[in-house]
Amino acid sequence: ELSPIDKAKFLAAKRATEFVEDGMKLGLGTGSTAAWMVRCLAERIREEGLRVVGVPTSSRTAQLAAHLGIPLTTLDEAKWLDMTIDGADEFDGNLNLIKGGGAALLQEKIVATASDQMIVIADAAKDVTQLGAFPLPIEVIPFGWQTTKALVEETLVSLDVLNRDVTLRMNGGSPLVTDESNYILDLHLKRIGNPRQLALVLNQIPGVVENGLFIDICDIVVIGHGDGRVTVRD
Ligand code: A5P
Repeated sequence: ELSPIDKAKFLAAKRATEFVEDGMKLGLGTGSTAAWMVRCLAERIREEGLRVVGVPTSSRTAQLAAHLGIPLTTLDEAKWLDMTIDGADEFDGNLNLIKGGGAALLQEKIVATASDQMIVIADAAKDVTQLGAFPLPIEVIPFGWQTTKALVEETLVSLDVLNRDVTLRMNGGSPLVTDESNYILDLHLKRIGNPRQLALVLNQIPGVVENGLFIDICDIVVIGHGDGRVTVRD
């Protein structure tokens, strides 16, 4: 028996999987909600003979999808995708997102941007009026990361951001290392007044590879609710 939150994630994932059509090239997201989508997709392949090819956004998703028999390829092989289905840590009324809670934001952003459509699947708790309660992850190069962190903090000061605690994400006793061999800094901002501006400015800092703000990338959010309802926002 699933908990209400897992049921909400599953229902959103299942509904989004129904958007997939035969022959599509698909970006496969990362995280617990996206894992439900991968399972639902594998079921449609098994039961309906649906033909799709997937591009995973992390080593974790690649492993799960391969294990479930979903045909996989690389983004370079596929070149462009019909649809990406992925989770998110927060989404707002403009369908802008915070992603990267699972440390996969870099591949996720590359894959979603290379897709005709991005569909986000989420439980209702991720629906926010203003982004930022969830710490914003940014992926940074390990070389000189402390200098990069200082530059990020200076940038936040220059933008008059009030809450600007920045922490290095750890994995046990050492820095967490992403699939692209980088580190993650988490920006504890509480509120992000201007996500578009922040996303642009952060990416100007040399050691920053990418940030977890997805602006104008998501087209549809499929929201699962604890009572079993599913709503769609676009
Ligand atoms: C992975 O890096 C993230 O962007 C995930 O998509 C996000 O953290 C959502 O994960 P859950 O579905 O597990 O909440």
